[in-house]
Amino acid sequence: MAFLADALKRVKPSATITITQKARDLKAQGKDVISLSVGEPDFDTPDNIKEAAIAAIRRGETKYPPVSGIVPLREAVAKKFKRENNLDYKPEQTIVGTGGKQILFNAFMATLNPGDEVIIPKPYWVSYPEMVAICGGTSVFADTSIDNGFKLTPAALEKAITPRTKWLVMNSPSNPSGAAYTEAELKALATVLMKHPNVWVLTDDMYEHLTYGDFVFRTIAEVEPGLYARTLTVNGVSKAYAMTGWRIGYAAGPIELIKAMDMIQGQQTSGASTIAQWAAVEALNGPQDFVARNKAIFQGRRDLVVSMLNQARGISCPSPEGAFYVYPSCAQLIGKKTPAGKVIDNDETFVSELLEAEGVAVVHGSAFGLGPNFRISYATSEDLLEAACVRIQRFTGSLS
Ligand SMILES: Cc1ncc(COP(=O)(O)O)c(C=O)c1O
Repeated sequence: MAFLADALKRVKPSATITITQKARDLKAQGKDVISLSVGEPDFDTPDNIKEAAIAAIRRGETKYPPVSGIVPLREAVAKKFKRENNLDYKPEQTIVGTGGKQILFNAFMATLNPGDEVIIPKPYWVSYPEMVAICGGTSVFADTSIDNGFKLTPAALEKAITPRTKWLVMNSPSNPSGAAYTEAELKALATVLMKHPNVWVLTDDMYEHLTYGDFVFRTIAEVEPGLYARTLTVNGVSKAYAMTGWRIGYAAGPIELIKAMDMIQGQQTSGASTIAQWAAVEALNGPQDFVARNKAIFQGRRDLVVSMLNQARGISCPSPEGAFYVYPSCAQLIGKKTPAGKVIDNDETFVSELLEAEGVAVVHGSAFGLGPNFRISYATSEDLLEAACVRIQRFTGSLS
C-alpha cells in the first residue's frame, strides 16, 4: 500500500519556488546571481502597520480568532470593497484566511467535485491548476496570445465553457503576464457569462493596486452586477502593503459559499494569526499613501525593464498594465546556439542557460502554461534590474 496520497501524484512543485531555490544555491556557492524570479515587493511593511501588530500583542490579542476573521478586519474588508470597488458586502459575506492562497484553495475545496471543470486562462499563476487538481477538479485552459496582451477573449471563453464548468478564474492584473482587463474587456466577458448561469467567477485581484499610467482597475462583479451572486472576489494585503510574510488574504461573496469556506477553515487552521489580522486592519483602514508611492516606483521599473528587454536581440517584450511582472517572448531565439554549442530548444533551456552563463534567474513561460516566454519580476531595485537587463542583452547577443 502506498503511504502517500494519490492526490500528490496530480501535483507539481512550484516552478517559481524551484528556480528561486536554484538561484539561492548558486549564490551560496559564491556565484554572482541576480534573482528576478520571486513574486514579492522588495519594500518593508510600513511602520504604522508594524506598530498596529505590536500594539495588538501588547493588548493581549493573542487568543484564537473567530474562524472567518476578527470582526474589525471583516468590517474593514467590507469597507474596502465599498470604497475601492463599489461593491456592497456585509461583514458576514467576507472571510479572512492565511494568505490569498488559502482563500483560493478553500474556495476550490468547498465547491469542486470530481469532474467539475475550472477555466483557467493561459498564462496562469502556477498554483491555480495545482489547487484544482488537489481538490479533485479538472482545469480547462483557455488560450490567450501575446498579440492581444495575454487577455482572455469572449470567443475563447465561450469555447472553454461546458455543462461541467463550475468556475472561471480571472486574475487581473495577472501573474505572470501583468495584463489587466479594462472595464470594456470585463463587460465583454461578462456578456458571455450571463448566458451561462452555471459558471461562477473567482476573481483574484491580488495586484489591484499595482496598475500604471491612466489604467483604471475594475473588478468583474462591479462591472456586471448580474454576476454578483456568483462571484467570489479575492484580494489580500501581501502585494499592496508589502506584507507577504504576514499571511493575510480575504474574499467576499455569496454567504453560502463563505459559510462553506468557513467550515473548511474551522477544521484546518481555526483562522489566520490574530496579530497579523490586526496589522491588516491598519493596512486597510490607515493611511494609503504608501500604495501610491510604490505604484510610482514600480511603474519606473516596468518602463526601464521593458525598454531594455526590447533592446535585447531576439526578445520582444510587451508593456503590461500592472502587477510587477513582464512576460517577454523569446520565440526568435528558439533554435539558436550558445557559444558552447548548446541549442536553445525551448524557453526552459533559455532560462537555464541564462542562469548558467550570466547568473540571471527568471522563470520559463511554459511553467505558466504559455511559451516560449519567460517571466521577470521587477520587484527589485533599478540598479539590479539594469544590471540584469545588460546581462540578458549580452546573453542573447552571444547566441548564434
Ligand atoms: C496571482 C496571485 N494570487 C494569489 C497569490 C497569493 O498571495 P498571498 O497568499 O500572499 O495572499 C499570489 C502570490 O504570489 C499571486 O501571485
